[in-house]
Amino acid sequence: MKNIDSYTHTRGESIYLDDIPVLYGTLYAACFDSPVAHGKLINIDTTAAAACDGVFRVLTYKDIIGENQIGGIIQDEPLFADHEVHFCGMPIALVLAETGEAARHALKKIKVEIEPLPVITNPREAAAKGELIVPPRTFKIGDSAAVFADCDYVFNGCCDTNGQEHLYIETQGAYAVPLENGAIKIYSSTQGPTAVQRAVSKVTGLPMHNIEIDVTRLGGGFGGKEDQANIWAAMCALATQITRRPVKYSLTRMEDMRMTGKRHPYSSDFKIGLSKELKILAFETTIFQNAGAAADLSPAVLERSLFHCTNTYFIPNVTATAYSCRTHLPPNTAFRGFGGPQGMFVIEAAIAKAADELGIDAWQIQQKNLLQSGDELPYGQKVVSEANECWNKAFDLYDMESIKKNVDDFNAKHSLHKKGIAVMPICFGISFTNTLMNQARALVHVYTDGSVVVSTGAVEMGQGVNTKIAQVVAQTFAINPAMIKVNSTNTYRIANTSPSAASATADLNGKATLIACTAIADRLKSIAATELNVSVNDITLKDECVFLNGNKTELGWNKLVLAAYNKRISLSEHGHYATPDIYFDKKTEKGHPFAYHVYGTAITEVTVDCLRGIYEIDSVKLVHDFGSSMNPLIDLGQIEGGLVQGIGWMTMEEIVYDVNGQLKSNALSTYKVPDIYSAPKDIRIEFLQTQKDNLAIFRSKAVGEPPLMYGIGAFFALRNAIKNFNSAVKPLFDSPMTPEKMLMNLYGNASAFREINAIQAAAH
Ligand code: MTE
Ligand code: HPA
Ligand code: MOS
Repeated sequence: MKNIDSYTHTRGESIYLDDIPVLYGTLYAACFDSPVAHGKLINIDTTAAAACDGVFRVLTYKDIIGENQIGGIIQDEPLFADHEVHFCGMPIALVLAETGEAARHALKKIKVEIEPLPVITNPREAAAKGELIVPPRTFKIGDSAAVFADCDYVFNGCCDTNGQEHLYIETQGAYAVPLENGAIKIYSSTQGPTAVQRAVSKVTGLPMHNIEIDVTRLGGGFGGKEDQANIWAAMCALATQITRRPVKYSLTRMEDMRMTGKRHPYSSDFKIGLSKELKILAFETTIFQNAGAAADLSPAVLERSLFHCTNTYFIPNVTATAYSCRTHLPPNTAFRGFGGPQGMFVIEAAIAKAADELGIDAWQIQQKNLLQSGDELPYGQKVVSEANECWNKAFDLYDMESIKKNVDDFNAKHSLHKKGIAVMPICFGISFTNTLMNQARALVHVYTDGSVVVSTGAVEMGQGVNTKIAQVVAQTFAINPAMIKVNSTNTYRIANTSPSAASATADLNGKATLIACTAIADRLKSIAATELNVSVNDITLKDECVFLNGNKTELGWNKLVLAAYNKRISLSEHGHYATPDIYFDKKTEKGHPFAYHVYGTAITEVTVDCLRGIYEIDSVKLVHDFGSSMNPLIDLGQIEGGLVQGIGWMTMEEIVYDVNGQLKSNALSTYKVPDIYSAPKDIRIEFLQTQKDNLAIFRSKAVGEPPLMYGIGAFFALRNAIKNFNSAVKPLFDSPMTPEKMLMNLYGNASAFREINAIQAAAH
């Protein structure tokens, strides 16, 4: 089944926030944000701005009627700065005007007096100064400290991964509309309608039942709208509460890049111990997460880094400690993988380091340590593993021997171009790590003409969840998808939604839909049994008809629905699903937090131009564990998109803040994302199709985030190409491998380059 949005997408008719027809009297908002990363806010002067043509009013923290607080996990984030500013881009004031241009023009007239305070941008420095968002956490299995003594090889090192800009095509925004009796309706570009509803409730002081959030779809979220859509919705709602006029704010690209948080940069230390047979016996890591100026989702992201710090390997002795460090950057947030990719990079760096030192290929170590079913991860969950299946299938199908031989032959023939290969196996846990979030609801109505409408807590952001929901309805009722409408995500239809995140949206909301549809289908089958005067056990629904013992009857879907209505049987149902058998004890850091894991193996081949430092990703050939894909077309799209987004993070996307906390890569001229030319020339995706029972919807495993981590292979393939050019260099584990860094690495000056950069930054 093709994506149900493909027709309107192709014709440009799909409706996003900025396409909603505006109401008469709508005001346009624009935010004045802090030009300084840390300081005392002495004075805000908005008089000149308020006097500008077309300006209706300027709001600051003083105008807030409820609480000046939007923190989710921890209440540590004001909506508008009050007495201090904590990052460049922190909201200070909101201009409301008759047009967006007038509002943005007036921004320039706002004057603030800020007394600068010291700025920290480096997470290790923050940790040294005790600036932590939450106390550190440690995951431990076995006794790594004792086992290192028995290891044949022990290696240490450190590694860094940079942040990543979400770059959803649709920027952040909200549109608030006043309803009667003080209620407010908000159209929001959010992954978490309930998160927005809670934030708006807090800031306005209105009870949640007076706040309606409606989401048709997003032009991408990638985690960036799990929590940070709250800000703009809260601003617009507050403005509507005060003015009783509709208020719209749709951010420009530069406002969005400057004011919102990104993927967390990490800096980590590692120590790895192996036996002569290349079994990893012990692993220790200390992870420093750059959280930015407020908690946002950082504690949850930190936790997932720990969950994935051994990637897809069985390591009997592990001690992993993670620090969430408070710096003066915009609060960093969820981004596809949610800390998992950062955690996995560390173990991959440790393995690459061991391979360097032992003079072997990293995949010899990787292969010997892959998870087997029944193995226990450091957090206590025993796995049902497909790691070896994916790995072996990839090596056989793509013929790793000949890939390696071709690369060696090429490298022997060419002196200024070198190829490199890396293998990236993945293992990603599916479920929100916060157990209580693993619940969802669906509301299904069948109308008397047989058509169906379904509402769930799922937000469509391009990942195809609405198509999967429609498939669940179509399959359960045995009707044509054309008879089904998937409604917008609305807090009056579905309450207390978890955000669409953690790759679990289709599983959770799909199962709730299945429960609701099954209840209606069961009632319809009873009606059919009565009408046909047979036992309900002999009835099935198929091809929009009632089947009796496998034979088609005269009773069609439409007739059946009408018969139920005439008998006053409900044609509506509200289904609730909560993932069974998952739990986690934060005191012992043990449990069974994930419904299941997703596996895969990618082989990446690259070619580097060793004169210029530029490179191409020749191919990524992978085998992915889909379970039984319910929609191969959508799932392939998720793999391709995730892979290229991961490659971007590892290679060319470089977020640069200067030492004053100013974002230098603040536009698309200075922040480069992969385009069709930088995508792999050849992407091959092979299904590992399994029939095993699992908790996925229709056994179709979650696919949203895991493929991003295949992109990590690009970093290590490039690193191997460098070694193939100059065997004397040991390239730093410093991602992204931009062409500049590549060039310095090729000639062995990457460390010097890094020091020069630091000195220049400090001087600046
Ligand atoms: N795909 C598209 N096209 N757009 C997106 O914003 N977000 C990703 C992934 N794939 C995203 C996407 C992220 S971060 C997650 S968690 C999942 O989709 C969320 O959707 P799912 O739970 O339905 O997989
Ligand atoms: N993944 C994604 N988003 C989340 C999670 C998670 O585990 N927990 C809270 N938000
Ligand atoms: Mo995805 S980072 O869980 O929104």
